[in-house]
Amino acid sequence: MSQEKITAASLPPAKSGYAPADYDADYHRSIDEPDAFWADQASRLAWIKAPTKISDVSWDKDDLHIKWYEDGVLNACYNCVDRHLATRGDETAIIFEGDDPSVAEHITYKQLHIQVCRFANALKARNVKKGDRVIIYMPMIPQAAYAMLACARIGAVHSVVFGGFSPEALASRIIDCGATALITADEGLRGGKKVPLKKNVDAALAKKGVDLRTVLIWRHTGADIELEGSRDHILNDVLMDVHPDCRPEPMNAEDPLFILYTSGSTGKPKGVLHTTGGYMVYASLTHEKVFDYQQGDVFWCTADVGWITGHSYIVYGPLANGATTLMFEGVPTYPDAGRCWEVVDKHNVSIFYTAPTAIRALMREGDEWVTKHDRSSLRLLGTVGEPINPEAWMWYYNVVGDGRCAVVDTWWQTETGGILISALPGVTDLKPGSATKPFFGIKPALVDNEGHFIEGAADGNLVITGSWPGQMRTVYGDHQRFVETYFSTYPGLYFTGDGAKRDEDGYFWITGRVDDVLNISGHRMGTAEIESALVAHKAVAEAAVVGYPHDIKGQGIYAYVILKQGKSESEELVKELVAQVREEIGPIAKPDHIHITPGLPKTRSGKIMRRILRKIAENDYGALGDTSTLADPGIVDTLIENRKNR
Ligand code: WT7
Repeated sequence: MSQEKITAASLPPAKSGYAPADYDADYHRSIDEPDAFWADQASRLAWIKAPTKISDVSWDKDDLHIKWYEDGVLNACYNCVDRHLATRGDETAIIFEGDDPSVAEHITYKQLHIQVCRFANALKARNVKKGDRVIIYMPMIPQAAYAMLACARIGAVHSVVFGGFSPEALASRIIDCGATALITADEGLRGGKKVPLKKNVDAALAKKGVDLRTVLIWRHTGADIELEGSRDHILNDVLMDVHPDCRPEPMNAEDPLFILYTSGSTGKPKGVLHTTGGYMVYASLTHEKVFDYQQGDVFWCTADVGWITGHSYIVYGPLANGATTLMFEGVPTYPDAGRCWEVVDKHNVSIFYTAPTAIRALMREGDEWVTKHDRSSLRLLGTVGEPINPEAWMWYYNVVGDGRCAVVDTWWQTETGGILISALPGVTDLKPGSATKPFFGIKPALVDNEGHFIEGAADGNLVITGSWPGQMRTVYGDHQRFVETYFSTYPGLYFTGDGAKRDEDGYFWITGRVDDVLNISGHRMGTAEIESALVAHKAVAEAAVVGYPHDIKGQGIYAYVILKQGKSESEELVKELVAQVREEIGPIAKPDHIHITPGLPKTRSGKIMRRILRKIAENDYGALGDTSTLADPGIVDTLIENRKNR
């Protein structure tokens, strides 16, 4: 652990005036009187009917339910759009910065209202109704946000699928949530390269078992695309024919807002379900407090709307707060490694939120790309998605922030809806590499492998001991899987899947996943998913995938593969295997190393010893520990000899 500490007092105070004593008082109230605290917070939103019941939660596996504000009625889109019209209708809601640096657009709240209503009416015209599921497979353009908000407006449940996912991955999500409509674009643009979104949609819809009524296509690049008679409609044309006003549907606080698929340690990705009232209260409160958001700030979160970070901190949190949120279509290194800071200067960005992998990649390019831009508009920096190494933290703080901006390292998950552990600007003393302290209402704890609480400075498995409004409610269509995944390892507790250390000051240091989930450049991936993609290749008998430390990506993917009888290793085959994974999941899951081996280290009962595979992949095979229980101890030497990551 780093010894360095940057005190809150040595940095500018919070713009809100929020001080350490306020945090202490609010945190204690949020823990001692949670319902009173969260009842007050509900008033951040505009309700059609204000809630009188605050929480009804049981984490008992036989009666697991999580309800917040259950008798409240509201509309999430109304809260993000309509209610700001009277006070700041002419102010900018969304700043769009295109992949092409000459493309930018400011969308006011009034304009946002019209666009979202038109999108909503386009969906209605295609007979999409409250409760229907709609897939959104879009580039990072404002139309992606319009599509999400339009669904929320009419009570349809959106499921955004990251544009980097393959047709196969898209198809399985369409099937799992039973979507009836899909919104996409002809193509996306990233770093000057085209992403064939509509072509991918066509490929997904051609797969067995995929049945979808309506595809709405936003013409973005103008590429030639094929249209299928009654199914496909050009959205730009449909929008011209619909009314620019649409009544927001009254929704119960516990009606679903969206489903977002995320990887776990087993099986296919799970549909994480978030509902309306609690999620919106939590996204809006965390956005305001963690980022010290004040009117006049320009907030830029570099995530994609295909991930939860984009949902909570590009769209729902900022817009619920009437903020100006920046949407960037491109990548941090195009046209050059100074793009982020060029955009910061161009749009006067004051709060910047990104992932450690981006910070490390930019750090490698050298300080000049940063220092040649002014950056004086910046006042706060944030990070999310994976543990940040103290070296990258210090570079972010000193070089990007010129030593005058607090860095908030925010720990959370798709499942949590919003930030659970983070420093607060002007309040928390910072320690590089630590996510620091819990947010209001959050009770983290450490347990050992048997589930006993560990007190004081220690290392353990990170659990949360009580609910918060932003918590996921279920796995879509599989409540039992929800119970088993999160509440059965340590009964009565929410298990995060992460390991953490707590230091003598009570600060949390997240050490990474303790399950078979990888974190590649902040993207979550199950080893089981990658293994099943590999095994789907006709030459493969068995596969075992592990992660290893990677300088830029945080973790890299190392795949051990056993071939079927009669198949032999070749460069060609390795290429095919990599292509197979790209096709089944997407480019983000591409293995860095494929190690073809005649066998794997297994116990006599046939269990693969992943601990050994991880060590070899890390190129750290000196301390393999006890291998005497292996069925064939000799395989270890063979694996070491042929290791790929030297
Ligand atoms: C996993 C959740 C929530 C937004 C992005 C990722 C890791 C997330 C941090 C952080 C250390 C972090 C954890 C977590 N993670 N933020 N600040 N420090 N690790 O969402 O895809 O659901 O992944 O990302 O391992 O469990 P996600």
